[in-house]
Amino acid sequence: GADVEVDISKVEPGQMLRVEWRSKPVWVVRRTPETLEALAGHEEQLKDPNSEEPQQPEFAQNRYRSLKEEYLVLVGICTHLGCSPQHLKDGAFEEQVEGVPEGFFCPCHGSKFDMAGRVFEGVPAPLNLVVPPYYYIDDNTLLIG
Ligand code: FES
Repeated sequence: GADVEVDISKVEPGQMLRVEWRSKPVWVVRRTPETLEALAGHEEQLKDPNSEEPQQPEFAQNRYRSLKEEYLVLVGICTHLGCSPQHLKDGAFEEQVEGVPEGFFCPCHGSKFDMAGRVFEGVPAPLNLVVPPYYYIDDNTLLIG
């Protein structure tokens, strides 16, 4: 599997890009300031808010889990049994977690993740969604791998 270059120059705030890396779906989400701010509001409901579990790159061991706060990069595979979670936004996620308007929901067994891919308590997924290795070639280009 080759590394994947991703042009992020056309991703609008709030938008999500889907690419494939080593046969896995990878999501690149440009988070809005509101989305970033909301990450602080539900940390007591998370299993591992600072990503201390060892499968994370070092730069993901914090609230934002990304190199640049604005851009979230995740492997789009549920850490329970490998289904593909859905991005629910514009309030649609509130049916899953009260007071949290946006997140990722896995339809297979109901695991819930926030907009940093952090898993909520009380669901079968044991770990936060995986952050793949990546870096910025320049301001508009990510290299995943
Ligand atoms: Fe996602 Fe089971 S595979 S909750």
